[in-house]
Amino acid sequence: MSCPIFTIANQKGGVGKTTTAINLSAALAAEKIPTLLVDMDPQGNATSGLGVEKEEGVSLYGPIMGNGKAIEMVRETPIANLSIIPSELDLAVIETELGRIDNYLIQLRNCLAPLKKKNIYKAIILDCPPALGMLSMNGLAAADYLLITLQCEYLALEGLGQILRVMEQIKSSGANKKLKFGGIIMTMFDGRTKLSEQVVTEVRGHFKKESFKTVIPRSIRLGEAPSFGQTIFDYDNYSAGAKAYRSLTKEVIKRFSLK
Ligand SMILES: Nc1ncnc2c1ncn2[C@@H]1O[C@H](COP(=O)(O)OP(=O)(O)OP(=O)(O)O)[C@@H](O)[C@H]1O
Ligand SMILES: [Mg+2]
Repeated sequence: MSCPIFTIANQKGGVGKTTTAINLSAALAAEKIPTLLVDMDPQGNATSGLGVEKEEGVSLYGPIMGNGKAIEMVRETPIANLSIIPSELDLAVIETELGRIDNYLIQLRNCLAPLKKKNIYKAIILDCPPALGMLSMNGLAAADYLLITLQCEYLALEGLGQILRVMEQIKSSGANKKLKFGGIIMTMFDGRTKLSEQVVTEVRGHFKKESFKTVIPRSIRLGEAPSFGQTIFDYDNYSAGAKAYRSLTKEVIKRFSLK
């Protein structure tokens, strides 16, 4: 596949979706894989976390609602080989407005199709908001692969069934028959607690094939980086978090044959 779309989703908030979207994208770009990060969260954390200014009218809101093209919304980032389609608050209106349009589930996919065809990028990473609403559903309908981030904490597995059921619905409804479960990325692992270990063991027990070997540690540096508008590689390239995201990226490149 020339340019797979990876949608990072989990309806649970604060489980490392955006941190993973930013640092996975940046690490792919560092491997000379031209990458596009699409910020689908009205909070715009991926946009600001990369040090990109939010601009009024610059998001996929217009294109998804039938006004303008996605390519007009692409902006450069401070990182070579990494572009972004930013988000801004308008995107939130999609949750209430999009339902009125025919084929509302596949609007995002239709928007991104020309970008995919153009062969400018070798990977598109989509960061979803913490809800299984219109934006995330469109994210799933546009995806080749669903990547789920899971925080190594109590009840981590509870929400997993729900998003996997939604994935099956998107497939069986015909909105995206080809959608594949790309894998589970376990985040915020705390080696000092038994609970983190237990979660990893349990997830690997259920999802042996899908679980990435790399587990992202809980790290203060990872939490700090976005407030400086920097990836972990620019903020602290030798931190445990940077090492983990590099290692995850190697697995992603291998699993999906991105090189
Ligand atoms: N491995 C980590 N170690 C420490 N802090 C982290 C780690 N990963 C993410 N964080 C921090 O935890 C918070 C939530 O992370 P993040 O924004 O990536 O989650 P999210 O799933 O995108 O959240 P939301 O659902 O609100 O979009 C952020 O403040 C982030 O900086
Ligand atoms: Mg987020």
